[in-house]
Amino acid sequence: MGYYFAKFESFGSFAPKKILTNQDLEKIVDTTDEWIRTRTGMVERHIASPEEAASDLAYQAAINAIEASKVRYKEIEMIIVATISPDHPFPSTSCIVQKKLGLKNIPAFDISAGCTGFIYACDIGRQYIENGTVNNILIIGVEVLTKITNWNDRNTCVLFGDASGACVMSRAEPSDISRIIDSKIDADGSQGEFLIQAAGGSRLPASAETVAANQHTVYMEGNRIFKNAVKSMYASSDELLRRNNLSGVDIDWIIPHQANMRIIEALAEKMRVPMSKVIVNIHKYGNTSSATIPLALDESIRSKKIRRGDIILLTSFGAGLTWGSILARY
Ligand code: ACO
Repeated sequence: MGYYFAKFESFGSFAPKKILTNQDLEKIVDTTDEWIRTRTGMVERHIASPEEAASDLAYQAAINAIEASKVRYKEIEMIIVATISPDHPFPSTSCIVQKKLGLKNIPAFDISAGCTGFIYACDIGRQYIENGTVNNILIIGVEVLTKITNWNDRNTCVLFGDASGACVMSRAEPSDISRIIDSKIDADGSQGEFLIQAAGGSRLPASAETVAANQHTVYMEGNRIFKNAVKSMYASSDELLRRNNLSGVDIDWIIPHQANMRIIEALAEKMRVPMSKVIVNIHKYGNTSSATIPLALDESIRSKKIRRGDIILLTSFGAGLTWGSILARY
């Protein structure tokens, strides 16, 4: 417990214009609209243009989040970007976003935790606010996974979309109803090979062979990940509820990572929370990895589904393997 409380001050999001439907995918690989809908819940996803990189999407979400807040640009004291599809291996995408925003002399760094990236970034950010180091942090989840998708692999290419979501996290005043109540992040590196971009790092530097073997694209053993996803998201969510003397009935909204509708439904059932309290937008965006949660939150807040004072539970699972949850009063 720190000296202060952190709160979600505002959210913003962005998705590229171009939409790829299940019918479009039927023309690319041996798949059907019916298979994709029933096995994943996905109907369409947004795709970045050749000119759009992670920082471009991140910048738009950042502007939308800052404009929705009471915080001025100059009052942002730190930028954290969660991504596994950065503009470049280095410099960090957060430094590029900092430049685009015209901000200087504040720390900016990236987090790599796959689809759990936004949860990891928020867990880190709240420490800086709760111990009094900073008052306002810009946290962004951004992904352009379609740039590292293997368009010959029907097991994965139907799943991913591009988007960004951002929040301004601020110190909560004593009079504020909003606060982050608790958070928990976790990892199991022993299962990392089931979800990996194998080449392009120091293990397998880029070469003609790695490109020919498609090793710069996402490789995923989906059914192994599936089982872990439900178990892990439930475990961290359940622990957060228990240690705060809450249960499923106290939750107004669960905002789960949008990887698969069947995972979301299984999680809701295990948590004994009706689907009417679960935020779902997977049909419109597919799996946008670290962007799914802030994107879903932004949409739900702007449509006035989620309101100030609601108890929200965010939970995710992804490459690493990593998982984690955040319990907050919005
Ligand atoms: N169209 C038609 N058939 C397909 C497709 C497709 N697009 N993809 C796979 N199939 C086939 C397979 O070839 C297989 O056929 P077979 O039985 O003849 O071998 C069959 O469908 C079943 O394949 P499974 O992989 O067992 O299908 P499953 O029900 O597990 O669904 C999916 C696959 C959707 C990937 C699911 O496992 C899933 O959602 N996993 C979790 C993904 C996840 O949470 N990832 C973490 C976040 S991602 C990140 O961090 C970047």
